[in-house]
Amino acid sequence: MKFFVDTADTAEIADLAATGLLDGVTTNPSLIHKSGREFIPVVKEICGLVDGPVSAEVVALDHETMMKEADILRAVADNVAIKVPLTIDGLKTCKKLSDDGCQVNVTLCFSANQALLAAKAGAAFISPFVGRHDDNGLDGMRLIEDIRLIYDNYLFDTEILVASIRNPIHVLESARIGADVATMPPNVIRGLFKHVLTDKGIEGFMADWAKTGQTIT
Ligand code: G3P
Repeated sequence: MKFFVDTADTAEIADLAATGLLDGVTTNPSLIHKSGREFIPVVKEICGLVDGPVSAEVVALDHETMMKEADILRAVADNVAIKVPLTIDGLKTCKKLSDDGCQVNVTLCFSANQALLAAKAGAAFISPFVGRHDDNGLDGMRLIEDIRLIYDNYLFDTEILVASIRNPIHVLESARIGADVATMPPNVIRGLFKHVLTDKGIEGFMADWAKTGQTIT
């Protein structure tokens, strides 16, 4: 499963990219707002920090303006993936951009039927929002299972990019189901490294090593 980080915080992205475990980045208008940065320069900077796809979202709601915005965003770097909302205009834009060889991430997906439409529109990625699904009393991971089943039934190569991840259980379940990508806030990625028994084990080994009086040279 690929790991994307869901942030526009370039310091966080650089730090996580240094682990060698980061496969891409997703942003959205709320994350750009949170960064306090100008949209185009921050996307350009992020594209230089990772080799993989960097999702940059259009903000127009009509197809024609979406295409104009997408053309501007595509010119920023080769690894920009255009993010469009799951609407009729968004999917029209997805089809056109995908036919033109552009990677498109279709976002704000809340049903398996929507995911089917995005795959038919040639999306490189579908972004189902599991956390927001859970928030509304639904089962986010069941949605991922359904999409996996449908995409496998028809051999769609659209990648399931699990979004709105809130905790490590979402990551574990995504991997069990066979999602292609998990995009996670930085704190969730960092949390995956942590285990109380790992910390306790290191503490014990270090204490015993100190007693040997040795060094590795
Ligand atoms: O990738 C989508 C994500 O940014 C939304 O997350 O936590 O606002 O539902 P959240």
